[in-house]
Amino acid sequence: MPNWTKGTITKKQVWTDGLFTISVKIDGVKPFVPGQFLHLALPGEPNPDKPDEPQRINRPYSVASPFGPELEFFVVVVPDGELTPKLWELEEGDAVEVSDAGVGRFTLDKAPDADVLWLVATGTGLAPYIAMLRTDQTWDRYERIVLVHGVRHHRDLAYSEELNWFREKFPERFRFVQSLTREEAGGCLKGRIPGLFGDGQIEKAVGWECTAGTSTVMLCGNPAMLDSMEETLGKRGMKKHRSKSPGQIVLERYW
Ligand SMILES: Cc1cc2nc3c(=O)[nH]c(=O)nc-3n(C[C@H](O)[C@H](O)[C@H](O)COP(=O)(O)OP(=O)(O)OC[C@H]3O[C@@H](n4cnc5c(N)ncnc54)[C@H](O)[C@@H]3O)c2cc1C
Ligand SMILES: NC(=O)c1ccc[n+]([C@@H]2O[C@H](COP(=O)([O-])OP(=O)(O)OC[C@H]3O[C@@H](n4cnc5c(N)ncnc54)[C@H](OP(=O)(O)O)[C@@H]3O)[C@@H](O)[C@H]2O)c1
Repeated sequence: MPNWTKGTITKKQVWTDGLFTISVKIDGVKPFVPGQFLHLALPGEPNPDKPDEPQRINRPYSVASPFGPELEFFVVVVPDGELTPKLWELEEGDAVEVSDAGVGRFTLDKAPDADVLWLVATGTGLAPYIAMLRTDQTWDRYERIVLVHGVRHHRDLAYSEELNWFREKFPERFRFVQSLTREEAGGCLKGRIPGLFGDGQIEKAVGWECTAGTSTVMLCGNPAMLDSMEETLGKRGMKKHRSKSPGQIVLERYW
């Protein structure tokens, strides 16, 4: 069980119905590395067998910002989920408990060096990459970075303004590709990410190749996307990176 600290919501940004970012003022969370996650908790129903013990509903969330006095969490409401409908109800000034220490190995210090870093996400799997892109060490380490974000609808493309800002800041070094699966829109590819990698559409849009010799690929979000991408990249001789068996792929499963 994590140790809990008190957090206060300072801002709620709604991207579209059920998809939102909360900023949380923290007190007592230890420094962590971009890509790591914390647990968020809200009060649960009292347990009659343990009436004096506070009950919590808690889940892990990637932190969408680097460590600081306020942290961002990018969350989607899962219908019938236990915690997310309650997180959605929170407003500025409300309390949320936050675990005190970052966890996880989905960080750049666990990723191999490469010419090109590919950050591939579905849905809220974008969160850890926002934290990484906001960190100077990421740009010091990788000469070229591509972000690929796949969502259902155009309205789900959160953080687009910030991604555009990075593209303007690093025109030679940063590209991003957004893909939609359930509608078409100008500037976006149409289809699921593994298919768009498989038939070369993503690399064509970016202008850079994703090969074992040149690239590190991080994958985050829907576990089915992770599995399909591993298979797709496997056909190019790319495999999961492990300290004893180096590869090119690092991944984070959300469920
Ligand atoms: C390391 C890690 C980091 C995570 N970071 C984030 C994050 O930054 N933002 C975020 O929104 N979620 C994130 N999640 C998912 C999060 O922990 C919860 O599982 C999710 O918010 C659902 O919680 P819930 O209590 O509402 O649903 P639950 O009552 O736990 O059950 C819902 C069921 O829906 C499935 N599910 C979970 N997440 C999703 C999803 N996004 N889409 C569809 N089905 C889902 C699971 O199978 C789960 O059993 C992360 C998970 C992990 C393991
Ligand atoms: N606006 C929102 O995003 C929103 C708002 C409220 C509630 N919700 C709920 O939140 C939950 C999560 O929705 P989400 O859209 O964030 O996440 P998601 O269901 O994981 O979908 C995100 C993207 O991943 C794609 N995907 C699914 N399976 C894949 C696979 N095997 N390989 C590659 N890509 C795959 C989806 O394509 P497909 O379209 O082809 O499945 C979609 O483009 C859902 O229960 C949803 O109803 C979402």
